[in-house]
Amino acid sequence: MQNRMAAAAKKLLHQRRSILNFSQINRSSSTSGFTHHCGHVPLKQFLASYRWDLWRSCLIHMQNMSAVHHRKFGSVASTIVQRNPMFSTINDDDLIYFEKILGMKRVIQDHEELKTANTDWMHKYKGSSKLMLQPENTAELSQILEYCNSRRLAVVPQGGNTGLVGGSVPVYDEIIINTRRMNSIISFDKVSGVLVCEAGCILENLISFLDKEGFIMPLDLGAKGSCQIGGNISTNAGGLRLVRYGSLHGTVLGLEVVLANGSVIEMLGTLRKDNTGYDLKHLFIGSEGSLGIVTKVSILTPPKLSSVNIAFLACQDYISCQKLLFQAKRKLGEILSAFEFLDAQAMNLVLHHLDSVRNPLPSSIYNFYILIETTGSNESNDKEKLEAFLLHAMESGLVSDGALAQDFSQASSFWHIREGIPEALMKAGAVYKYDLSLPVEKMYDLVEDMRIRLGGAANVVGYGHLGDGNLHLNVSAPQYDDAILAQIEPFVYEWTSRHRGSISAEHGLGLMKAEKIYYSKSSETVQLMASIKKLLDPNGIMNPYKVIPSSLVS
Ligand code: FAD
Ligand code: MLT
Ligand code: ZN
Repeated sequence: MQNRMAAAAKKLLHQRRSILNFSQINRSSSTSGFTHHCGHVPLKQFLASYRWDLWRSCLIHMQNMSAVHHRKFGSVASTIVQRNPMFSTINDDDLIYFEKILGMKRVIQDHEELKTANTDWMHKYKGSSKLMLQPENTAELSQILEYCNSRRLAVVPQGGNTGLVGGSVPVYDEIIINTRRMNSIISFDKVSGVLVCEAGCILENLISFLDKEGFIMPLDLGAKGSCQIGGNISTNAGGLRLVRYGSLHGTVLGLEVVLANGSVIEMLGTLRKDNTGYDLKHLFIGSEGSLGIVTKVSILTPPKLSSVNIAFLACQDYISCQKLLFQAKRKLGEILSAFEFLDAQAMNLVLHHLDSVRNPLPSSIYNFYILIETTGSNESNDKEKLEAFLLHAMESGLVSDGALAQDFSQASSFWHIREGIPEALMKAGAVYKYDLSLPVEKMYDLVEDMRIRLGGAANVVGYGHLGDGNLHLNVSAPQYDDAILAQIEPFVYEWTSRHRGSISAEHGLGLMKAEKIYYSKSSETVQLMASIKKLLDPNGIMNPYKVIPSSLVS
């Protein structure tokens, strides 16, 4: 196989000038004469370009589907905290006050609506809030918080409720402050690419808006159909493009936030450079609603580039995946826009549980799969780079097989394999989810160690953002079982800490890991975090029991 692929790739280098574009490919069938995988173009035939806008809209549709399906498995919050007795409970006067500010419709006490808002995406964490408020603007939100603070009513900020660590739902009876109605785009500057919008804008809507302007969001994730930019910022979401565009700490230029006492902190700058003292917006990026509520966002968006290529590759061992990443960074350089991996267990789950997924490489079972995306502005240059990279990868045996998307629908189907994993895991049963930063060379050892540890008791699955050193280690079992949990924790945290990793690469700490923070942060650092929390939220009403150990803040 390998020789055939290498020979084919060589041949392609000669054929470069005759590479088809998307419209041509739609009319003609593949003519390479080499093996085909489910109609995709194998590595031997080079990728054709396709229209970015169509490709995006197809992808968005699929991601919408993955964001809505879930199943219930009961609560397994590993942290049991007591309700803070300093907090009040809501009374009739409170309701009258909120209705005066928001009107009856946006003071929600409906049982069904509250049931949904009290439950997280995984159906693992459930609160018992009796009230959800939906402010429409900063002034309303400020009034709400000022009042809650004076009454010591605890609140939980909630965006799209797609968080994976129990941060977006109440633990007890905290008032849910949902930002969905704060969803206006305020301005977009085509020259600078700076977008200013309200926090409740759904990520997918921002992507669609920018697409028409010839720009893209610097972040992209499977939950885009539901998650909000305010939630993304509050979790410092990473996602599929971080390898290219960096974290939100780099792309967010400004924020407006409302503190617990209702004061509005306007830091909504649109400048790339501003060194006038402490850059306080960073405190709110990734603080998971524990310091204040993000109400407006200014974010730098990159231009949409026309040449997008996607390869779905198979590797037999993890060392080959690592070497491939090393090569991709050097040989693809500035056009590399995603480098994702999944293991055979993740692939099996997706193939088994998601109806719409087909294996692009069905001829054999491989241990690892890599999805590589390149995005650039010069089609022939990009192709030349990708060809050289793939040729080398095949010749050196790093890649055992592969397929190249030849149109937007194939590109979407490749992406759907990777992005469908969380949904497939939900369908498979109970899932213990860990989101770790680790040195790339050590990362998969943890998956293997966990497999040895759990034996046949559970299915251990590894996937994630390999290009960012971010492993999603998931343990899938028919149902939640304390014996399995006891095998996983604290082992997984100790292992990560021993290798100087982070116990939360991108999902945050939420309720799930608030008490585990010391595995990744020194006690002095945690103490400083608690002092900052105390300064900004002296009554501790903002998203209590999350992020910081309860003993330090109550
Ligand atoms: P929510 O879930 O509503 O809230 C998340 C946290 O932010 C909570 O602590 C909440 O209190 C706080 N919060 C929300 N809005 C505000 C606000 N305006 N001000 C202050 N605090 C606020 N994460 C990644 O990093 N990368 C991924 O690739 C990724 N993929 C995902 C795929 C799927 C299918 C799912 C279900 C989740 C995924 N996530 C991923 C996790 C999740 O963190 C992100 O979906 C997203 O950033 C959360 O946004 P949200 O609006 O749903 O926030
Ligand atoms: C992903 O990368 O798919 C998300 O972070 C969600 C998950 O870890 O399951
Ligand atoms: Zn992720």
